Amino acid sequence: MEPFPNQTANSYPGHFYITTPIYYPSDNLHLGHCYTTVLADAIARYKRLRGFDVLFLTGTDEHGQKIETKATAAGCAPKEYVDGIVANIKVLWSKLNISYNRFIRTTDDYHKQTVQFIFKKLYDQGDIYKGQYAGKYCQPCESFFSEHQLHNGKCPDCGRDTVDFSEEAYFFRLSHYQEPLKAFFARETSFMSPPARAKEMFKNFLEVGLTDICVSRTSISWGIPVEFDPDHVVYVWIDALANYISALGFANDQYEDFGFWPCDLHLVGKEIMRFHTIIWPAMLMALNLPLPKRVLGHGWLLFDGDKMSKSKGNIVEPHQLCQLYGVDAIRYFLLREIPPGEDGLFSEQLIITRINIDLANDLGNLVSRTIAMVLKYFAGSLPQTEDQHTPNPLCDACMNALVAVQKF
Ligand code: MSP
Repeated sequence: MEPFPNQTANSYPGHFYITTPIYYPSDNLHLGHCYTTVLADAIARYKRLRGFDVLFLTGTDEHGQKIETKATAAGCAPKEYVDGIVANIKVLWSKLNISYNRFIRTTDDYHKQTVQFIFKKLYDQGDIYKGQYAGKYCQPCESFFSEHQLHNGKCPDCGRDTVDFSEEAYFFRLSHYQEPLKAFFARETSFMSPPARAKEMFKNFLEVGLTDICVSRTSISWGIPVEFDPDHVVYVWIDALANYISALGFANDQYEDFGFWPCDLHLVGKEIMRFHTIIWPAMLMALNLPLPKRVLGHGWLLFDGDKMSKSKGNIVEPHQLCQLYGVDAIRYFLLREIPPGEDGLFSEQLIITRINIDLANDLGNLVSRTIAMVLKYFAGSLPQTEDQHTPNPLCDACMNALVAVQKF
């Protein structure tokens, strides 16, 4: 039987563009980062099986103060530092059998060209203007916050202390897109998933009121210079978010894949959902481009009750784990243990339990018994069902499950 029987040669379903966030190469990646990428990989593989022409993009977000500081501590130039980490990341993706088609680095020339084009265009049309930044800054997250965004005076993303900061900067007129965004969210109800995240974005950001965001820095040198004002470098989110279109050849001649836009699925962790569902759509509106079809905000892999993260010191190194339990078992564990959208727990005991119960007992026994019976009763070859119309509840259940899955 074909894996997807209602798929005929002339029912080509079209393009499917899926992305992971681009990872900070400030350090080697840990198992939490692997979750996003394995999830994207499973979806990309499924779509390919269904006949889609899939573009699966991943990459690295290489600018910013944190990376500059790390490189200085390691005694090398930032580019040299990130080159080493990016090489390790590619080895990791190859070990985990990640079937990405394109790997973007924000230090790639074509990406820089796109970012400079976007910045200038938005400036020329009045969506970016020069002002004075004063607020709170969280250095580990490289994020600025207004007073009311802080949680008990701390960074709302990581809970750490922030510092007062003030300097000349360019701003993106995000406030201008408040009403268009509200209208868009009301119309495109499946844009954000899971639905609880959409409510969160509405309540915490759109209802509070959007403020313009700072999009350049003069105090950081490791970044893409603003072409018409080189004391400034483009600050984090315009640089990072633009990767999703520069990788297709928007405003550069590296690729000619803009037919893949709009993106079908951006996969992101819940802490960067607001950048992808508010700032990114507003940037695209300003560029007069169609908006992505869906952004899925997944939960975190927790270890010792907290988000697995290098800065919290509770990370798990993926290579060793794959060595010990096998790549497919680890991929299975990540996909099975973290329900899409929710947090999931990590412990070695949980991995062992999953391998023993789900893979060895359930799947292993099913396969072994099926093969034994096919050998014993059918001489090793399954006959075609004689009467396709005889009611067969097992077959019906399988076909119904297939139809349900194919909606995605
Ligand atoms: N560079 C930005 C993303 C820019 S996208 C235009 C960034 N990088 S990151 O390296 O900090 O995180 C990348 C992704 O890894 C995020 O989606 C984040 O949620 C995910 N994860 C990092 N730790 C994780 C867990 N412990 N569990 C699950 N995902 C985790 O943010």
